Amino acid sequence: MSTTTPVSDVDIFGDEVLNDPYPAYEALRGLGAAVHLSRHDCWVLPRYEQVRAALGDHGRFSSVDSVGLEPALNERRRGGVLASDPPEHEVLRGVLSESLAPRALSRLRTDIGRRAEELVAPLVRRGTFDVVRDLARVFPVSVVADLIGMPLAAREEVLRFADAFFNTFGPLNARTRESLPVAEALFDELAAMMSRDNLEPGGWGEAVHRAADRGVIGGHQVVPLLRAYLVASMDTTINAIGSGLWLLAERPEAWQALREDRSLVPLVFEEILRYESPVQIFFRRTTCPIEYEDAVIPEQAHVGLLFGSANRDSRKWTDPDRFQVDRAPMDHVGFGYGVHGCAGQGLARIEAQAVFSALLDRVDRVELAGPPRRHLNNVIRGLDSLPVTVTTGRV
Ligand code: HEM
Repeated sequence: MSTTTPVSDVDIFGDEVLNDPYPAYEALRGLGAAVHLSRHDCWVLPRYEQVRAALGDHGRFSSVDSVGLEPALNERRRGGVLASDPPEHEVLRGVLSESLAPRALSRLRTDIGRRAEELVAPLVRRGTFDVVRDLARVFPVSVVADLIGMPLAAREEVLRFADAFFNTFGPLNARTRESLPVAEALFDELAAMMSRDNLEPGGWGEAVHRAADRGVIGGHQVVPLLRAYLVASMDTTINAIGSGLWLLAERPEAWQALREDRSLVPLVFEEILRYESPVQIFFRRTTCPIEYEDAVIPEQAHVGLLFGSANRDSRKWTDPDRFQVDRAPMDHVGFGYGVHGCAGQGLARIEAQAVFSALLDRVDRVELAGPPRRHLNNVIRGLDSLPVTVTTGRV
């Protein structure tokens, strides 16, 4: 490493940074396009341009054994859709692509809209509720578990597993150590629930088993693939909805603008993902030395792609720390980009827009009914609790 290489000893997985990562991100972006983190012995890309370029360059930024920071924990993810490169990756990714294609999703839109209304209407009648606990944590698990065709009993465990599993993408800190036994205990339990006998016919679960019957994927790949879809669709969507309603509750003028012009709803969802990206970081491994203006990342180095920082980079965005309802930041990296770009983004958009629309139909005003409480996870940003009071105008 040369003497001019940008280096930082910040702990991006420590409580202080996880509570409010944006000052640390700004400092990292100021240091350089690629920064070595001495504490974790890894590199990070904090600026938009380099994050997006790395996401689009799977040849030089491999996902094999590298989407998390710890080698031993990466082994557990080996061969999964998130942790493979083309051509293996294309096969895995192709298995559920029909179920997630726009035409298949458009058929789901009405049903998901109805389910959102059924969940939201009684909460609005109550007047005061917790956005995270009563709404955001309930909705995606019920939608996705039904799409997969999972047994009801498994659903409680899914959220505990997803939170623990996402922690294991970070370093071996206290959060990861506490999560490991939870993830391990539930790993096999979820596998059992995704066996063919336990899945409803006609769902994604059965479709993946059938792909194995046809020889498209190996039998051993069925459960990891289903588990990947299940986990990837939970805390991500939950926190997009939770953070989104927090941002809107704090900005009555934004809520009003959405009430008056519903065409802003899809745009505001993208702005939520830019401003409070639910996935803050995933890693890659370099397959050759990569040269930046004042640093060379060596071959086989772990590189953190800081989605949350890239989405706040003033080199890319005007006034990036301002939440702007009509910004339409369609090229944010909140869903990643490139071959691993989020496979469920269409579904996530339908789910979140359904929840926002069901609330906008009924609610004049959303106000905080208590302080929001943050939930700390090594890679996911979001809330544990968001108490609100809603006013319907029909007193
Ligand atoms: C707002 C909600 C969501 C956010 C912010 C989000 C974010 C992301 C990000 C950043 C990646 C890229 C990973 C990488 O580059 O290594 C990703 C991949 C993925 N997401 Fe999502 N996601 C969301 C919802 C969903 C949903 C609802 C599903 C399932 C239906 C899903 C399934 C996946 C899968 C399977 C991958 C791996 C794709 C691959 O490796 O080819 N996600 N997601």
